[in-house]
Amino acid sequence: MEIEGRIYHRGEIIDAALEIDGGRIKRVKKYITGAKRIRGVIFPGAIDLHAHFREPGYEHKEDFYTGTMSAAFGGITFVMDMPNTNPPVSDAESFNEKLRTVSRKANVDFSLYFLLNENAQILREHNAAFKLYMGETTGAKGSEVTYVPHSFISVHAELNECIKKESTNLREHDLARPESCEVRAVKTLLGMGKFHIAHVSSVDTVDMCKVGRFTCEVTPHHLLLHRDMPLGSFGKVNPPLRARWIAERLWEELLIGRIDIVASDHAPHTVEEKEEEFSSAPAGIPEVETYVPIFMRLMRMEKIPLRRMVEVLMEKPAELIGIGKGKIEKGYDADLIAMNFKDVRRVRSRDLHYKCGWTPYEGFEAIYPHTVIVGGEYVIEDGEFVGERMGKFVKIEGNKF
Ligand code: DOR
Ligand code: ZN
Repeated sequence: MEIEGRIYHRGEIIDAALEIDGGRIKRVKKYITGAKRIRGVIFPGAIDLHAHFREPGYEHKEDFYTGTMSAAFGGITFVMDMPNTNPPVSDAESFNEKLRTVSRKANVDFSLYFLLNENAQILREHNAAFKLYMGETTGAKGSEVTYVPHSFISVHAELNECIKKESTNLREHDLARPESCEVRAVKTLLGMGKFHIAHVSSVDTVDMCKVGRFTCEVTPHHLLLHRDMPLGSFGKVNPPLRARWIAERLWEELLIGRIDIVASDHAPHTVEEKEEEFSSAPAGIPEVETYVPIFMRLMRMEKIPLRRMVEVLMEKPAELIGIGKGKIEKGYDADLIAMNFKDVRRVRSRDLHYKCGWTPYEGFEAIYPHTVIVGGEYVIEDGEFVGERMGKFVKIEGNKF
C-alpha cells in the first residue's frame, strides 16, 4: 500500500509519501504516483508502556478487546499490559494462558509484563519485561527485590513501611502515601541494576532517578490533575495526585527531558466501585483513550513543542524497550495515526470505548485521530472502527538493555 499526506518526519511536518510492505515502512519518498491521500497530519502511532487491561480476572472493569479498542481510538498502536491480574502473570503457565486469550482480542500490537519474583530467571526466555511492585496497591502485595534480571523492569516505587492505610479524601490520600515514600523506594534500588521508574509523582523522585541512571515515566494524571480538584474517589490513584504546583513542576521536568516518557497507567474501575467510601474505593484512573488527543491539543496551544511531544509519546518509549516502532522511517513498523488539527473536540465519557464508562477529563479539549493504521492495516478509518483483531504480540528482547 502507498499513502501520502503531511507527515511528521525527523522533527518536521513535510509533504511525503510512504511505501508500506509486509506491515513495515519500506520507503519514505517525496512522491509516489497513485498513493492514497490521507487527510490531516500523519504521526507514528503512540507507544504506551503502562496499561491495565484487566484480563484475566477483572473483565468487568475492562478486557483486552475494549482496552485495545480504546487505545486505538486514542492514537495508541502498541501497548504493554501489566501483570496484576487474577491470576497474576507470574509464571510460564499464566503467561502462555494470557497470551493465548488476549491474542484473539488485540486491536493493536502489544506485549505483556511478568511480575518480578523468584521465577524471573526462568521467565526471561519468554519475554524480558518485568513489573516490580515494591509496595501494596490494587492487585499486588509488594515484594522484596531478590533477583534483578538484565531486562526492562518497570517499578512501582512505594514502600509498604511508609504507606498509611486510611484516607478519606484526596488530600489525606496524598499524605498517606507521601512523596518521600516514593523517593525512599527508588533510593533502595540504587546500585542494584537498571530500572525504569513508573509514574513518578515527585520532582525529588526524578532527582533520585538521575542518581541511579534510571529512566522514568510520568502519567497524564500527575501532569494534568491535582489533589485539590473535586474528583473524590474518582481521583484516587497510587501514587496519589499531588498538589497543583507539583504537577506544574513535573510538566517542566518532562519538557526539559529529565522525565523520559509519558505512559498512561490506564487503570479502570467501574463507577460502582469508585462510588464506594473513599477509604475502600479502588485506586486507578482510566487514561488510554484521552491522553494522546489531549497532548495533541496542548501541542497546538504551544504548551509542549511538536518534537518533544513526539519524543515522549512515540519515539522514546519504543526506544526504551528496543522495538522497531515509534518513528516514520524505513524499516519501522507501519503504525500510523492521522488527525486534523482543526478538529478540536471536548472529551465526553459517552464517546469513549472503555467498559468503565467514565473519565476524569470530561470537558478537556482534545484532537482525536480519524485514522489509525497498525502494521499497514486500518484499525480506524474516517473515525470508524474497521479493525479485525489483528494486533500482534511483540517480544521484548532482554539483551537490548
Ligand atoms: O492506582 C493504581 N491502580 N495504582 C496501581 O499501582 C495499580 C492500579 C490498578 O491496577 O488499579
Ligand atoms: Zn499501573
